[in-house]
Amino acid sequence: MLNLNSQFDLIRQSATVAMADRILALKAGGRNIIGLQVGDPDFGTHPAIVASALKAMQDGQTHYGPSVGTLELRQAIAAKLQRDEGVQYAPASEILVTHGGIHAYYTALQSILNPGDDVLIPDPSWATHSNMVVMLRGNVIRVPAPAANGFIPHLESWSQALTPRTRVIVLNYPSNPTGAFPSRAYLQKLQDFAGQYDLWIISDEVYGSLYYEGRPTSAAAIEGAKERTLLVNSLSKSYAMTGWRVGFLAAPSRVIQNALKAGQNSITCVAPFIQKAAAFALTDPAIQAVTADMRAAYSRRRELVLRLSHELESERVRVVPPQGAFYFFLDLRALKMSSVEMCERILEEEGVGLVPGSAFGEQGEGFIRLCIAASEKDVEAGFRAIVKWAERQ
Ligand SMILES: Cc1ncc(COP(=O)(O)O)c(C=O)c1O
Repeated sequence: MLNLNSQFDLIRQSATVAMADRILALKAGGRNIIGLQVGDPDFGTHPAIVASALKAMQDGQTHYGPSVGTLELRQAIAAKLQRDEGVQYAPASEILVTHGGIHAYYTALQSILNPGDDVLIPDPSWATHSNMVVMLRGNVIRVPAPAANGFIPHLESWSQALTPRTRVIVLNYPSNPTGAFPSRAYLQKLQDFAGQYDLWIISDEVYGSLYYEGRPTSAAAIEGAKERTLLVNSLSKSYAMTGWRVGFLAAPSRVIQNALKAGQNSITCVAPFIQKAAAFALTDPAIQAVTADMRAAYSRRRELVLRLSHELESERVRVVPPQGAFYFFLDLRALKMSSVEMCERILEEEGVGLVPGSAFGEQGEGFIRLCIAASEKDVEAGFRAIVKWAERQ
């Protein structure tokens, strides 16, 4: 028998993918499903961004480009980080263009992780954060981020989770799946902790431009943090460009040198015409206004769910207002049912697609994730159906 890479035996099939498969099967059978499971903006990519890519293709930008990314795009990224986060990065040495945020995270981890290193990751969090550590033969240590603490780990939980082999902290704020983000003061204390134990911080900020209450601070903007922070971001969520696969890693130059080797030896480069369109998206003033409009639309849907929750007064579906991103992490622990069973039953009985909270870690058990990157009509119908279903149990 030929052996496979046994690390993959440690990675469970994602519950999100399993739900998506079930939904496709139901739809193929003619069932009408309200899809609130996928974290993909329901807005189209702005036509001017599409036009920019088309023009670049017509102009012949259809060959290999520089693996690190075009200078034009790296300059646009540096300008964005200065404008939005107040952090200065050198386009020539501190930025790598990647295949979306997921590849930025992958190259970030690859650049710093040695087999057997321990990585601290809050629970709940996006499953890929843990899965990639496993793929790279690191060990994941989950740090509870309990609902009772606004889905942010208690500061002492980080020290309790620390081992002699801990080398990395992974943050994702605003969070998928909870929408939570911590205060600047909290991040400062976490940075002090990371400094004391010589830890890297990988900060996945793909939802950084989607916020409703206050504004998240980039982990790299904290005093003293830039030299240990690997900032992951992309245009997927903020510019409704998920299918374009373009993102970036901003980090100290020696990290970028490794990440570049990882990129060079796996993907070669991001398509130059996509980089052209990404540079346009990041710099064109009219596009920034459109992004603000999308945030306003998500904000209205968020208000809608909060209003409905107030109106329906369900003891069984508790709503924690998300501070950012486009998810509600609904608390149905009162039902004392597994979140997988809840999602399967809500799908079968009400025709609403959701993601079980347990897909994000043990702390997510009893919760379900509802994505508001869908029309107001669907968000309202979906939320009402969840409450109606929960009240029947
Ligand atoms: C927390 C988080 N990081 C990264 C990604 C990946 O985004 P991208 O499309 O930029 O690869 C996602 C996608 O859902 C996500 O939720």
